Amino acid sequence: MAQNKIVYKRGNAMIEKLKSWYERHKRDLPWRNTADPYKVWVSEIILQQTRVDQGLDYYFRFIERFPDVGTLALAAENDVLMLWQGLGYYSRARNMHAAAKQISKDFGGKFPDNYQDLMRLKGVGPYTAAAIASFAFGEAKPAIDGNVNRVISRLFLVEHAVNKSPGQKAIEQISKKIIPHADPATYNQAMMEFGALQCVPVNPDCDICPLKTDCLAFKEGKVNALPVKVKKKAPKPRYLNYLVIEDEDSARVILTKRQNQKDIWYNLYEFPLIESGQELDAEQLTAGGEIEKWLGHSKFSLKSEPIRKKHQLSHQTLHAYFWRIKTNVQFLTDSSDDAAIFDVGSLEDYPLPRLISAFAEENLNNY
Ligand code: ADE
Repeated sequence: MAQNKIVYKRGNAMIEKLKSWYERHKRDLPWRNTADPYKVWVSEIILQQTRVDQGLDYYFRFIERFPDVGTLALAAENDVLMLWQGLGYYSRARNMHAAAKQISKDFGGKFPDNYQDLMRLKGVGPYTAAAIASFAFGEAKPAIDGNVNRVISRLFLVEHAVNKSPGQKAIEQISKKIIPHADPATYNQAMMEFGALQCVPVNPDCDICPLKTDCLAFKEGKVNALPVKVKKKAPKPRYLNYLVIEDEDSARVILTKRQNQKDIWYNLYEFPLIESGQELDAEQLTAGGEIEKWLGHSKFSLKSEPIRKKHQLSHQTLHAYFWRIKTNVQFLTDSSDDAAIFDVGSLEDYPLPRLISAFAEENLNNY
């Protein structure tokens, strides 16, 4: 108990300093000037895996196209995915779409107004629920993201790994104690901003830090050693061989829609895919007869070297090989839902993984 009281007392004065720092240094970000839970939600989902400078444009476009949760609920999934193109981690967009439908169905179209109900929404975890609950409804729930983990672990010398349960529990406990019940929204914004701008991961400028006299890590010379993180497993390599099957005048290509619901690119379009355990040469690629499955007995020619692209995800390294396959037939455009022939000129109208659209942009003449 005594320990808790000390934490809390230190907390009070420290939070005043933090808030005063925030008033002087905060960036003017659009989601900070609104208490609309929908807008807060959109911004927080975008910012989960995206930097602020990259996320701003997406935020404006998303809000313009889907200004409220009812509009989003009624949208076609393709349109939602289209707006997300290039941001990656598409499950965020699919989950938002599903959550918007949930709000229509289970909450009568009214955005849930408390932490507990927010947690029922698809794709909303403790961080996002706390952010919306505090920013839009003034509920005193600490929003703990990577920036906040770093700030708290340094200020309070949490030396357990923050990405493991004991460390995370310690951070949560401290955060619950120090969050003020008057204006928790400003506290949460200030913590995030302090982590983003002042208490940065490497070599923060502690000389100018208003909290340095409160900071136990500073006192002990451990600022750069915190937060402790347990190393994640090395990303797994995957080898994706894309069959870029073009017709006679290179005006049309075959695309398929990814159907595995667990997949990162579920419902996005791509070229027919052969996934392999390692890099393949042209002979190995053709050995399985996969190309004939698409072309029947039509003649085709295959370039001996594919165009390579690498794409890094958090848990996987994607090695993509684009094999250009020319045919002497003319395809007829006939888009069915799961596999189809597309005009190269119309590819822009479909949600494509960045890897695919980048290839098309750089290599397909009519794109
Ligand atoms: N990153 C995540 N949420 C944020 C917010 N509300 N402001 C700035 N950066 C953020």
